[in-house]
Amino acid sequence: MITFDNIEVTFGEHVAIPDLNLEINEGEFFTLLGPSGCGKTTALRTLAGFIEPSRGEIYIDGKAATRLPSEKRRVGMVFQNYALFPSMTVRQNIAFGLAVRHTKKDETNRLVDEIADQVELTTEQLDKNVSELSGGQQQRVAIARALVLKPRILLLDEPLSNLDAKLRVQLREQLKNLQSELGITTVYVTHDQEEALTMSDRIAVFNHGVIEQVGTPEQIYNRSNTEFVCTFVGANNRLAPALLSRLGLDAARPSYLRLEKVSLVRHTDAAASVPLTGTISERSYHGAFSTYSVDVDGSDLRVTSSETGVTPRAVGSTVELFVDPRAVLQY
Ligand SMILES: Nc1ncnc2c1ncn2[C@@H]1O[C@H](COP(=O)(O)OP(=O)(O)OP(=O)(O)O)[C@@H](O)[C@H]1O
Ligand SMILES: [Mg+2]
Repeated sequence: MITFDNIEVTFGEHVAIPDLNLEINEGEFFTLLGPSGCGKTTALRTLAGFIEPSRGEIYIDGKAATRLPSEKRRVGMVFQNYALFPSMTVRQNIAFGLAVRHTKKDETNRLVDEIADQVELTTEQLDKNVSELSGGQQQRVAIARALVLKPRILLLDEPLSNLDAKLRVQLREQLKNLQSELGITTVYVTHDQEEALTMSDRIAVFNHGVIEQVGTPEQIYNRSNTEFVCTFVGANNRLAPALLSRLGLDAARPSYLRLEKVSLVRHTDAAASVPLTGTISERSYHGAFSTYSVDVDGSDLRVTSSETGVTPRAVGSTVELFVDPRAVLQY
């Protein structure tokens, strides 16, 4: 449905995106994930038609769209800072694009009411000034303003980053539900790996304008293609050579093991896991789980444990750990 074909974007001498090739499917929730400055916003703005690439072609629905003006691409964009009009009411903000299109008043009101209902804004809120709303409500206004124009594609640039942690998790679910109800192809930008993993059908991990991996959340997390993807997504143990030898793995390669892949209880598939013995040097309690640092023959191994039905282990105690060598990621 969307194709980036050899897209290059430069700002003066600076090459922000050297050669982007990417396919996004109809109805997909697709996320561009990467650290600050890696080119996520640039890629999104190029797709929206706000930035002209210096090379390459963008296709939307099989048609070359690279030289189409933004308003002809049928994309709706929610910007990183919302870009709402603070002195206008919520209704006026949502209706802005409709006014530009000279939509009749009755039709405008009908469309605004319909979309407000979908994003869960109340009639009372519609008549308020945007500046009177909370961050989460403003974020809904920004989404409603994009959706009211019935775009084929919804582009969201870090829409949740200005909100506090709890609200972010709540809105994540609502946004994902809204997207699947509408079935609208969505390109989502974030630097938050948890957001990417929980919301996306597929993720592209960006580094310096280059895609390191495209895949499902499970592929990105469990089968990270590169060392960058592995260390950017999720917490890891970097494994020492001695430990790698114990696991029967190549000790010369950079190797990582996710914290929850180390187990404090023996797997049912016992043959697959190597038992290790260590001493707990630290424990931090997180409520739903605990993280232990365990000294195994002089190297530190961190472990997360949900501790459902087990007694918490004390610092200084000796524990058995089980590691499946197949869970180790090597580069
Ligand atoms: N208008 C511009 N003029 C010059 N350089 C720019 C412009 N926009 C972006 N850049 C540069 O291009 C690179 C990519 O920027 P971009 O805004 O796409 O990153 P990002 O991944 O969205 O980062 P963030 O997570 O901080 O929003 C950066 O090095 C940035 O400085
Ligand atoms: Mg950005």
